[in-house]
Amino acid sequence: MYIAGQEEIDAVAKVIREHKLFRYGVGGECDRFEARYAKYLGVKHFALAASGSNALAAAMTSVGLGPGDEVLIPAHTYMATATSVLAVGAIPVIVDIDESITIDPQAVEDAIGPRTRAVVPVHMWGAASDMNAIMEIAERRGLTVIEDACQGVGGGYEGRKFGSIGHVGAFSFNYYKNMTAGEGGGVSVNDDAIAERARCAIDPCHFYWHGRKDDVKPFSANGARASELMGAILNVQLDRLDGMVSKMRAEKMTILKGTKQLDNLGLRQSPMNSSNHDCATQVMYTLPSAEAATEFTKLMPSVICGKTGRHTYTEWDQVLMGIGAAHPAMNPYLMPANAECRKAYSKEMCARSLEILNRTVMVATHPDHSEKEIADIVHNIGVAARVVLGGMPTDQAELRSAKPVDAQKFDLKVDA
Ligand SMILES: Cc1ncc(COP(=O)(O)O)c(C=O)c1O
Repeated sequence: MYIAGQEEIDAVAKVIREHKLFRYGVGGECDRFEARYAKYLGVKHFALAASGSNALAAAMTSVGLGPGDEVLIPAHTYMATATSVLAVGAIPVIVDIDESITIDPQAVEDAIGPRTRAVVPVHMWGAASDMNAIMEIAERRGLTVIEDACQGVGGGYEGRKFGSIGHVGAFSFNYYKNMTAGEGGGVSVNDDAIAERARCAIDPCHFYWHGRKDDVKPFSANGARASELMGAILNVQLDRLDGMVSKMRAEKMTILKGTKQLDNLGLRQSPMNSSNHDCATQVMYTLPSAEAATEFTKLMPSVICGKTGRHTYTEWDQVLMGIGAAHPAMNPYLMPANAECRKAYSKEMCARSLEILNRTVMVATHPDHSEKEIADIVHNIGVAARVVLGGMPTDQAELRSAKPVDAQKFDLKVDA
């Protein structure tokens, strides 16, 4: 997302020049990336896939979820968290988030029913879910934890990397992520048998390339194999990751320090579960009301969490409409095995989450921001807060120039 340039071009050119675009038996970039990223995460296995959605569905498959199972997911996440549950024939049960914008452990505990088998903490916008609480509940109540770390590349929780804490993790490397090959994803896991199942879900033919182990039963699945182009780009991107994240963390700290005194007016830093280990792609604030948040974003280029469209359950049409598959016989909502699962959704079902999301704003960081740009951001946050929350007349509001959020965040740099 943030940075892609000459090194990526050279890495891709090398793969093409050498005619080594296929990972198995031909190239070595995917294998190399998988080994390096597993080490980076502190897990035994990492299996590349074509996308984060594929990786999540493979993770669900790998831990044996299927019809008859309910999976708890947060009200605020990208739709793929829900659709990956449906992809394996299970039913997503949507539960509230708290002010950290991640799944509320108490809501998880309260939502557990007789059919609940798993929970998906999502490290939204690179900020950690409350993993200690979730792992404790999961152990006590016998749940499997699938960490959706698709937005958490490079981040962690209390010193451990996202995707290494739950029973299995899933990552995305799409254009908007901290490492990107345009698209891409993968599964992180320690358990050998789960890793083999994840690889089979990603590529049911993968046994043929390395030889099938007698103790692993293959099964049919749809292919989502990574290409060597992806592996080559990600190997370059991995070298940059920590430097980029530490710059964003430094920017976040500067912004928070520079805006701390605005607490008094009602502009509060959103509570974080592991504030020194997040990806720091965003600085999040909770405001007193949705109206104040709306006015704030008119002055300070920033985004309201509840207004991003696809990241809130109210926008997940297929889920709300009960269309869990293209063919009715494959639709988990109609499967007899799911008769006892909870399948009733409404747009009002997580009103507490909506209330929080609509008064939470995100200010984007960027590893290339200069000191001057960061100072301007701090200045503008202060001006916007004083106008919206402190009664400062608008004609006294002197805003400095600031780039539109999207241009800052998603600008692809190519030095060719
Ligand atoms: C939280 C979350 N889960 C899953 C995904 C799916 O990843 P992909 O877009 O690579 O399929 C995304 C992608 O944006 C995401 O943000």
